[in-house]
Amino acid sequence: MKTFENKLDQIENSNLYPFHMPGHKRRPINSQLASAYVRDITEIDGFDNLHHPTDFIRLEEEFAAKLFGADESFYLINGSSCGILAAIQSISNAPGRLLVARNCHKSVFNALYLTGKEADYVYPEWNETYPFNGSACVDQIEKMIRQGSYAGVVLTSPTYEGIVSDIEKICALAHSYHIPVVVDEAHGAHLGIWGGDGFFPKSAIQCGADIVIQSTHKTLPAMTQTALLHVQGDLVDRKVLKHHLTIFQSSSPSYILMESISDALHFCAEKKHELAEAYKKQLEDFYNKTISLKNLYLFSNQNMQDSFAYDFDPGKLVICIRDNIDMTGKQLGCLFREKYQLQMEMEEEHYVIAMTSVMDTKEGFQRLLTALWETDRELSDKLSDRKRENGYITKKRPFPYSGTRLTIRDAMGSQSREYILKDAKDKISAEFIYLYPPGIPLIVPGEQITQEVLDYLTEKDDAGLSIQGPAKIDQGIIACVSDE
Ligand SMILES: Cc1ncc(COP(=O)(O)O)c(C=O)c1O
Repeated sequence: MKTFENKLDQIENSNLYPFHMPGHKRRPINSQLASAYVRDITEIDGFDNLHHPTDFIRLEEEFAAKLFGADESFYLINGSSCGILAAIQSISNAPGRLLVARNCHKSVFNALYLTGKEADYVYPEWNETYPFNGSACVDQIEKMIRQGSYAGVVLTSPTYEGIVSDIEKICALAHSYHIPVVVDEAHGAHLGIWGGDGFFPKSAIQCGADIVIQSTHKTLPAMTQTALLHVQGDLVDRKVLKHHLTIFQSSSPSYILMESISDALHFCAEKKHELAEAYKKQLEDFYNKTISLKNLYLFSNQNMQDSFAYDFDPGKLVICIRDNIDMTGKQLGCLFREKYQLQMEMEEEHYVIAMTSVMDTKEGFQRLLTALWETDRELSDKLSDRKRENGYITKKRPFPYSGTRLTIRDAMGSQSREYILKDAKDKISAEFIYLYPPGIPLIVPGEQITQEVLDYLTEKDDAGLSIQGPAKIDQGIIACVSDE
């Protein structure tokens, strides 16, 4: 069953004249993208409707639900972002606040802005060894759920760095209070197919989450903007969820994008075992061949401390720079790009991330391995006097604290005044501030800008990272809630 492919083949080979959108009328203006143009149609007769699927789109969504083990699945063509907005709206009618992991993607905070719902944040685990956030702290969530009154829990797992939280335990806990759990699994669509096999962590659906959103374009072979939303159980009002999907999804969904989701899912389902075996072998080889690096190291289940992270997705190659080395992640990423023609997904202050998928080639892994080993050898000359015994990095908290003073909506709706960032200490921000990537807000409107946040931003700016959010950030200006 590859209905999208069949249907779009049919239209590509037909003589049907398109007196309908899109305006290119299926006549390619770019020969490289020729087949995309001839297959790009709209909801004409016989092509079903994403917003009210009764025919093949419905069958394809049922196929997705079966593959991922969900009760129902929905194709998303506006990325995980639109699924997150719809998911949070759908749980926000219930009384109570939302319990939200503070290291969520900005789309979660945009949803809070839209719903006007108040949130209590749970900060991620951290320790001095690793330069990034750990799992969501289960003890803290348990305490908050027992003491508070929540409409829902919203978490990100895996994170950009592949850190997985104990979703099973959190769901059991939340469900005992009839609280639904939404998991942003944007980085874990592959876990939905291969997770829980002892190599890849279980997917959030397997762990019992009520709504799970996955970007198929991130870790499965589907086009940019494609994603899935899965739902299970009876804690979520599906009518409200579906209604919000129609609000946040385009009313002209691209059949090319939908076909791409369908192709990716059928491809992975048909070659499920073959793809998994080859991918796991590539990754295992890669981790084995990088164990004895001296100046760089790969974060892995082997060197991970239990208190820091519950589990880790080995598909994320998190290449860290030891503290005794005078080099930033930005510089390492630049070196990989310029000397080895290898583009990393993300360059942080102390590490870079290489994202992998079942589509990576042996040659790709080999080139990265060569780059790692050559660089590691050359880095021995760059020893700094920050040397530590075990060579690991001693870090400040990878996520600075900033207390909430106003809701996002109130802060954004207030009179504001512009401040030079360094003079904004103790002011209440009226804007988001985040590093991009990963797009996790360091400051959410309504939060107080602490010295810890300002120091953190200075450090990241010095390391060449991109600070975004405030309209005038290029001039170092941030809008804060006016004191008058
Ligand atoms: C953790 C996380 N959640 C959600 C998103 C949004 O996903 P999408 O780009 O598919 O809208 C991202 C994007 O990078 C992300 O990193």
